[in-house]
Amino acid sequence: MQDKVSKIIEVRNRIEKDASLRGIPIVKPEVGQLLTVLTRAAKAKRVLEIGTAVGYSTLWFAEAICDLDGQIITIEKDEERAKEAKENFYSAGINEMVVLYNNDAAEILSGLNMEFDCIFLDAAKGKYIEYLPFCLKLLNQGGLLLADNVFFRGMVCAEAEPPKRYKTLVRKLRLFLEEIRNHNQLITTVLDLGDGLAISVRR
Ligand SMILES: C[S@@+](CC[C@H](N)C(=O)[O-])C[C@H]1O[C@@H](n2cnc3c(N)ncnc32)[C@H](O)[C@@H]1O
Repeated sequence: MQDKVSKIIEVRNRIEKDASLRGIPIVKPEVGQLLTVLTRAAKAKRVLEIGTAVGYSTLWFAEAICDLDGQIITIEKDEERAKEAKENFYSAGINEMVVLYNNDAAEILSGLNMEFDCIFLDAAKGKYIEYLPFCLKLLNQGGLLLADNVFFRGMVCAEAEPPKRYKTLVRKLRLFLEEIRNHNQLITTVLDLGDGLAISVRR
């Protein structure tokens, strides 16, 4: 067991070191740590991740569930990143625990027919609001819905108008936050961690 976790941490540290040099967007380590803690505390076994990049956050989830016979389904539309993520999953010894779809999230979400204990949104930020109905359909009672970058570089909470090119994205993220905060099936808090992490539990 300890060997399994050490291997996961080793690959994760390697990705963390070179991600910023290569311009690969990944969650902040403190967000990653919280993903592991929350997933473990919720006793989650099946995780859905939207936005894999090269698998860094997947490895935080893997640490939480690797001794629970769990499964992670992760979606990445970029072919190169998906290929690299797969290689990382092999190196970390978690390839049998992970199913990676190299596709657009909307296409996969509409076809998924299983329940999840945890869903992590970390792909196109303007699409979170579109993905929400699918997440509610796929999330177990007591399951976690997590969404990263909900402050979008501080623009979502700022009084100043966002730059023109981000206006729609910021408006959609505000709508998403309003929806998850007021939804009668969700209990939500938003943490000022990293670029803003929304945490919801399904009633
Ligand atoms: C912030 S990165 C994910 C980082 C990853 N969760 C981590 O922390 O290691 C967002 C990823 O979502 C992917 N993405 C963006 N839009 C997508 C879509 N519609 N469907 C699937 N993947 C998408 C991007 O290619 C990018 O690699």
